[in-house]
Amino acid sequence: MRVALIGLGAVGRGVAEMIAKKDLGLTITGIADSKSGCMDCNGIDPQRVLAQKKQTGACGDRSITAEDIIRDAEYDALIEVTPTNALSGEPATGYIRAALSRQKHVVTSNKGPIALAYKELRTLAQENGVTLRYEATVAGAIPVMHTLEHGLCGNEILGIHGVLNGTCNYILTRMAAEGLTYEQALMEAREMGYAEADPTYDVKGIDAAIKLVILTNTIWGNSVKLSDVDLTGIDLLTPDALRLAEDEDCTIRLIAEAIPEKHLLRVSPRIIEKNHPLVVEGTLNALTLETDMAKEITLIGKGAGSIETASAIIGDLLYIRDRYGKCT
Ligand SMILES: NC(=O)c1ccc[n+]([C@@H]2O[C@H](COP(=O)([O-])OP(=O)(O)OC[C@H]3O[C@@H](n4cnc5c(N)ncnc54)[C@H](OP(=O)(O)O)[C@@H]3O)[C@@H](O)[C@H]2O)c1
Repeated sequence: MRVALIGLGAVGRGVAEMIAKKDLGLTITGIADSKSGCMDCNGIDPQRVLAQKKQTGACGDRSITAEDIIRDAEYDALIEVTPTNALSGEPATGYIRAALSRQKHVVTSNKGPIALAYKELRTLAQENGVTLRYEATVAGAIPVMHTLEHGLCGNEILGIHGVLNGTCNYILTRMAAEGLTYEQALMEAREMGYAEADPTYDVKGIDAAIKLVILTNTIWGNSVKLSDVDLTGIDLLTPDALRLAEDEDCTIRLIAEAIPEKHLLRVSPRIIEKNHPLVVEGTLNALTLETDMAKEITLIGKGAGSIETASAIIGDLLYIRDRYGKCT
């Protein structure tokens, strides 16, 4: 199957490295970053482009744009891995729209387009006889969408509860383990590369809420928006709160939860027993799916990382290849 890769940062690099390393039957015919691009219908050597990007900061010719690749390259599936813009969804939504309109499948790790324009993009995909997959947008390497779609097929999903932001989980883990203040734990998370210079999206619970919106709309076919989520972050938590929880053999985690029957759509710090399945350490993510037949299923794994996120993207690509066998 031929793929075009838009974005060659942490996730794009992971995808390119794994395509180069593993015999996956995937050929890259176009690559673009924010300032350059390259295309070759016979296939591009990912190692060469990765080396060039490392050396020069650009992956190809500066006169070739992402739009050029999406419009002109020969590919079966577009891999869209540009930065998330949670307010506009752009430029990713435009890129995805353009590829779907050309009857190309799309795989993305970008939360913006899926949280903001899922219904429109899904309809566009259906109209063009292709598919839009986004496993990597929620909980990184954890195969949430595949589990819902296949493993739990036939179950009614009654509710979801998850730890969906690794930065917050790291901060809470360190505050509880070492008695650090929120500010000290955040500084440590920054030093470890787990928190952005501006951590607002993570610590205010916005990132977890966007993932909750994606899950809710996927599972129940709703059209909920970020503003529908009852949102409290972890930035006002004190070491005292964690100590009080500890006295009860509990701890605090930022939990994203949706229970349609109770009209609950919430992200907030919750006191939970230490032996609860959602009490995962460090940057791990966890998600409990409450179902009618299988009862509770909890998935735990890496919520981020270059190769970990590439795992989710490659899973989506190979699913498309197997399902739509006519791809070359
Ligand atoms: N990192 C993770 O672990 C992770 C996990 C799950 C989901 N995600 C999501 O995956 C996406 C990519 O994340 P990342 O960590 O790889 O980001 P990143 O390291 O910032 O890389 C983004 C890439 O997109 C390119 N880019 C920026 N604007 C562009 C534009 N207008 N057109 C074409 N390319 C453009 C950048 O180009 P330059 O190289 O020229 O700057 C860069 O190569 C984001 O939406 C993120 O939220 C990331």
